Amino acid sequence: MTDSAPPLAGVVGWPIAHSRSPVLHNHWLRRYGIDGYYIPIGLHQQNFEDGIRALPKLGFRGVNVTIPYKETILALADTVSDRASLIGAANTVTFREGGAIHADNTDGAGFLESVRAGAPDWSAKSGPVLVLGAGGAARAVVSALLNAGAPEVRIANRTRQKAEMLAEHFGGRMVQVDWERAADAADGARLIVNTTALGLTGKPPLNLSLDAAPDGASVVDIVYNPLETAFLARARARGLNAIDGLGMLLHQAAPGFESWFGVKPEIDDALRRAVLPA
Ligand code: ATR
Repeated sequence: MTDSAPPLAGVVGWPIAHSRSPVLHNHWLRRYGIDGYYIPIGLHQQNFEDGIRALPKLGFRGVNVTIPYKETILALADTVSDRASLIGAANTVTFREGGAIHADNTDGAGFLESVRAGAPDWSAKSGPVLVLGAGGAARAVVSALLNAGAPEVRIANRTRQKAEMLAEHFGGRMVQVDWERAADAADGARLIVNTTALGLTGKPPLNLSLDAAPDGASVVDIVYNPLETAFLARARARGLNAIDGLGMLLHQAAPGFESWFGVKPEIDDALRRAVLPA
């Protein structure tokens, strides 16, 4: 790469057409007058390793990594941040000297930032949290909550064994709750988080009663397609504070942008509108 080549970054996955990350990062690039590009890169499994290793030679400063490579990337990484290692997955790669791959996971921190933005009075230490789901997103969310000092994280998942494994992995402050009893587990929870695929366009809605949730609790749906899920509508109808999934998408993106392009980007309504036009 010569000094005059524009800085590049991108998102690697398969399929990749659905990703909102290019819109988001290119909005920031334009806003800060940076002459760079953020590019969607679709790589088949058999080309993944060669493809990733070629990127720094082509001028890429780093990439986001998405489905299905969030776990696979760890095996190729030269260095892995503590949080990515604890979560067992990475979403943000920065290329260092000689093309060395540094893998980090900003999903959990992005989740926390979005909750803090949507519920300024909330603190992880303020009480139990109920997490629905036990997939990759749940791992990032649970890890961040525990790290921020949550006294108890209740976890309910359709496939019970996955919730048990996650509870075992993260230890003492985790409580596994049967999926059928999840509504009862909202009792006393200061924060209730949907990390399942329920509510996504094309999937059934998440049909969980929030009657047992205490007044003043916040409800987060990390689904952002659509932004207004039936679950969030139910939270609002119950008078609870509802936080949509777009905030997490925006906040998880910021550290990568800063590491590749050297500017800490702003997250505001203009960005929200650019990423998800009404
Ligand atoms: P992600 O990385 O986004 O978390 P994932 O690892 O595929 O995606 O996890 C999807 C989550 O949605 C899982 O908790 C899954 O439950 P199972 O572990 O039982 O599969 C949950 N999920 C998907 N469809 C569901 C449904 N119809 N009912 C209940 N939970 C569902």
